[in-house]
Amino acid sequence: MPGIRGPSDYSQEPSRKPLISSLLCFPFNAEPPRSALVQSYVTPVPLFYKRNHGPIPIIDHIHNYSVSFTGLIDNPTKLFIKDIKSLPKFNVTATLQCAGNRRTAMSKVRNVRGVGWDVSAIGNAVWGGAKLADVLELLGVPKLTGSTRLGGRHVEFVSVDRCKEENGGPYKASIPLNQATNPEADVLLAYEMNGEILNRDHGYPLRLVVPGVIGARSVKWLDSINVIAEECQGFFMQKDYKMFPPSVNWDNIDWSTRRPQMDFPVQSAICSLEDVQMVKPGKVSIKGYAVSGGGRGIERVDISMDGGKSWVEASRTQKPGKDYISEHSSSDKWAWVLFEATIDVSQSTTEVIAKAVDSAANVQPENVESVWNLRGVLNTSWHRVLLRLGHSNL
Ligand code: MTE
Repeated sequence: MPGIRGPSDYSQEPSRKPLISSLLCFPFNAEPPRSALVQSYVTPVPLFYKRNHGPIPIIDHIHNYSVSFTGLIDNPTKLFIKDIKSLPKFNVTATLQCAGNRRTAMSKVRNVRGVGWDVSAIGNAVWGGAKLADVLELLGVPKLTGSTRLGGRHVEFVSVDRCKEENGGPYKASIPLNQATNPEADVLLAYEMNGEILNRDHGYPLRLVVPGVIGARSVKWLDSINVIAEECQGFFMQKDYKMFPPSVNWDNIDWSTRRPQMDFPVQSAICSLEDVQMVKPGKVSIKGYAVSGGGRGIERVDISMDGGKSWVEASRTQKPGKDYISEHSSSDKWAWVLFEATIDVSQSTTEVIAKAVDSAANVQPENVESVWNLRGVLNTSWHRVLLRLGHSNL
C-alpha cells in the first residue's frame, strides 16, 4: 500500500475542534449539536459528522500515494493523485448520511446495537474530485457499462484502516459497475471538501463519494479499486448496514437474506428544537433538514402540532435567496433542503412533528416501531419533539 498505512491504535488521531461532540464510548466518532446543522446549507468541515471504524490512516509521503486498479479489467494499473487531478474536476454538492442517523430514538423502543447518534450524523458538503466514470474510462472501461469483457459487474473500494469488524483488515464496500460508469450518478473520487483539501478525518488524500447512498459506501482513504464479479463480501456490505424487519433478533438473524442497503430513504429532522424543548406560548420558528436518496427531490415538508391530525407546509430552500424546486435543474439533486415554518404554540401544544415527502411521493413512516431493526439503521420515522411550556427565550 504505497504511501498510506493504517495504524493499529488511536495514538495518532487528528485533533478536532471542540465544536463537535465526541460520542462517549466511541471517541473517534463525533456529531455536531443539532442546532448547528441548520445554520448553513453547506456544512462547515469542523461541524461535519465523523464516522470511523478504526484508527485514521497516516500518509507517509503524498507523492508516493497511489491507488491500484485491479480485477476484471484489461489494463490493471495504478494512479497517483496527480493522475486523478489531471482529469476534469467536478464539484458535487451532496449530503452524506450515516445509516445509523437518529438511532438513539430507535433504541428507546427496544435495544439496538450501534453508535448512539442523535439527528446529526448527516452533513452537506461540496465534494471536489474526478468522476469515477472518467477514471474508469481512462482504464478502458467505457461509460454506462454493466459488465466488463472479463465479467466484472461491481466495483469494490478498499481502504487501509484496520477495523476490528474485519478482524484487523481494511474497510471496504462496493457499488454496481453501471452506477460507477454512469456520469449522471456523480460518483466521485474526491480530494476536496468545501473547496479545501480533504482532511484526515474525512478521507485524505482520496475518498469515494456515492451521492444519494448511505454514508457507509463512501469509502475513505482509498488504497485499491477492484472490478469484481459479485458485490464486495466485506463485513460492512454483508453483515452490517442491512435493514431487517422488526421480527428479526440476534438469535434468528440470517444476514444472507437481505441486500446491502444502498439508497437512503426520505428523511427529515427538526434541528431548531431539542427533544424536549421548553418554549413560551406564541410564535416559534421550526427549522430542520429534509433529504432523500437516489437523487430524489423533496416535494414537501409538513409540520403538525396535533399528533398528525392537521399539517402546515414548511418553506424549503437550498441556496440562500433562491427558491427550491424539487427535481429542477437549478436544484442540487443530491443535497438536502433546509425547511422552516413558524408555528403558534398554545397552552395545549405538547409536540411538534416533521415529515417529508420526496419526488417519488415516498413519505416518512409514522412510527419508529414499524421500522425498528436490531442494528438501529434507517430510522426515518416522523421526527417528534416534545414541548414543555415555560419561560424559554424561544
Ligand atoms: N471508510 C473507511 N475507510 N472507514 C470507515 O470507517 N466509515 C463509513 C464511510 N467510509 C468508513 C468509511 C461510514 S459508516 C460513514 S457514515 C462515512 O464514511 C462517514 O464519513 P465522514 O466521517 O466523512 O462523515
